[in-house]
Amino acid sequence: MKGVVLAGGLGTRLSPLTRVTNKHLLPVYDQPMIYYPIRTLIEAGITDILIVTGGASAGDFLRLLRNGAEFGLRRLNYSYQEGEGGIADALRLAEDFAEGGSVCVMLGDNIVQSSIGAAVRNFKRQVSGAKILLSEVPDPQRFGVPVFEGERIIRIEEKPSSPASQYAVIGVYMYDNSVFEIIKTLRPSGRGELEITDVNNAYIASSNLTWDVLEGWWTDAGTFDSLIRASNLVAEMRMRGGA
Ligand code: DAU
Repeated sequence: MKGVVLAGGLGTRLSPLTRVTNKHLLPVYDQPMIYYPIRTLIEAGITDILIVTGGASAGDFLRLLRNGAEFGLRRLNYSYQEGEGGIADALRLAEDFAEGGSVCVMLGDNIVQSSIGAAVRNFKRQVSGAKILLSEVPDPQRFGVPVFEGERIIRIEEKPSSPASQYAVIGVYMYDNSVFEIIKTLRPSGRGELEITDVNNAYIASSNLTWDVLEGWWTDAGTFDSLIRASNLVAEMRMRGGA
């Protein structure tokens, strides 16, 4: 399975930090933010990776990451998102790269404590469809939130004012190749974006979405509060000898 790291968008919630650079190049403790999702994919055995970015600082990703030798990779692949049409719009650019196969997508501002390897292995046993990962959070209204009927997710609500559960759908998604056909059917949401939650709801509608709960902590890093939280969590992990 190939990996895709989505690192486009404007990062307006972090302005003025993002006025002259891309959010994913900002530091999270001792490394640029983008290093974390790349390392998470590699640790799970995914080494053929596409970085999708955009905006005026796109060239800086190449200067920083080069061919990925620092991560033990032979090469990295890059794509450029025109504008900031949403997460699903950025993923659209991975269609040729996927070459008909499935993809593990990770948002460039998501940081996880532990391995996603078990979930990746579970997904590989799945004949088709999608898998999402959940994490229990104190503030689900900031995220995609699953609505359960027993053990089954019947829909995902994007940033609901009254969340139906305490779980966030985290920014690690595994899709079979039909994701690219689903994206072609999407219409922009109220915030003018092609939403990844609409992609996941399409898989739910065809009863083709599974979920796992991620072990350990998870955070995004796209707001001032979550950025400092991410740095603190990583610092604590390093102090305890974690990778
Ligand atoms: O962090 C998990 C959450 O990420 C999920 O729970 C939500 O369901 C999902 O919609 C998303 O929510 P956000 O509103 O926080 O996403 P954000 O706009 O911050 O984008 C997250 C990453 O996606 C960003 O770091 C880079 C990538 N992205 C985003 C946009 C809008 C792109 O590559 N291109 C884009 O146009």
